[in-house]
Amino acid sequence: MSTRRPIVGGNWKMNTDRESAAGLARQVAADLVRDGALSSVDVAVFPPFPYLVEVGQALRGAGAAILLGAQDFYFEKNGAFTGEVSLEMLADCGVSIVLVGHSERRHVIGETDQLLNRKVLAALGATNKANAAGFTCVLCVGETLAQREAGETNTVNERQIRAGLKGVSPEQMSRVVIAYEPVWAIGTGRTATPADAREAHANIRRVLADMFGDAIGDRTRVQYGGSVNASNASGLFAQPGVDGGLIGGASLKAAEFGAIVRGAMGR
Ligand code: PGA
Repeated sequence: MSTRRPIVGGNWKMNTDRESAAGLARQVAADLVRDGALSSVDVAVFPPFPYLVEVGQALRGAGAAILLGAQDFYFEKNGAFTGEVSLEMLADCGVSIVLVGHSERRHVIGETDQLLNRKVLAALGATNKANAAGFTCVLCVGETLAQREAGETNTVNERQIRAGLKGVSPEQMSRVVIAYEPVWAIGTGRTATPADAREAHANIRRVLADMFGDAIGDRTRVQYGGSVNASNASGLFAQPGVDGGLIGGASLKAAEFGAIVRGAMGR
């Protein structure tokens, strides 16, 4: 059994509406409380911004220690940044975990490694009135299909990790989670094979060890993401070095998300 506690996140992306978001949160919470999954797996949900407060209420109402997460934020504290959302606002809504650099932010919205590094440093440096420990930051990395075919998987992951974690202190690394999400596997129904995932995760851990030392390389959780579903989750999560997953499409179905979380129990 790994010493790293697995973490499974449900990234709802730009889906749900006010009613269905609260309903999904209630169902996920009831399912996970019933089967006791939360005692051995950290679980987070990342709803759209407008539904954060109601989703948080639904989770608390069900007595479920599920982390409330945000899909993005801006690194400045406040001010004239039209359309942006600050970490302080997220803390005010009960958020304790944030995604940084999801592939849709990198490749659809055009966020750069430099911008993402500012976000990582802001998240790890911010105080959080909802959670004395501060924010947990999930840095997402992964190669495109062209990069994989050119044999660049490991170099792309290494570059994104080194750039994203530049200036992070060893102490702050306890609040960093890496999500390895090959871009070609996201939302496509194509998943990395368990062996592909194992290899990429091992390389990511080598990079972390090189940057922060072996103990931190060993302690940091690395999730897999990209078309994870109830049928393939346990095979992926059983791989050494794969500490749970970041789930998109399948996290919108409470029963399937519950089955995925169960796939991470006992590893
Ligand atoms: P998917 O998305 O599970 O729908 O492939 C994963 C993600 O984008 O985090």
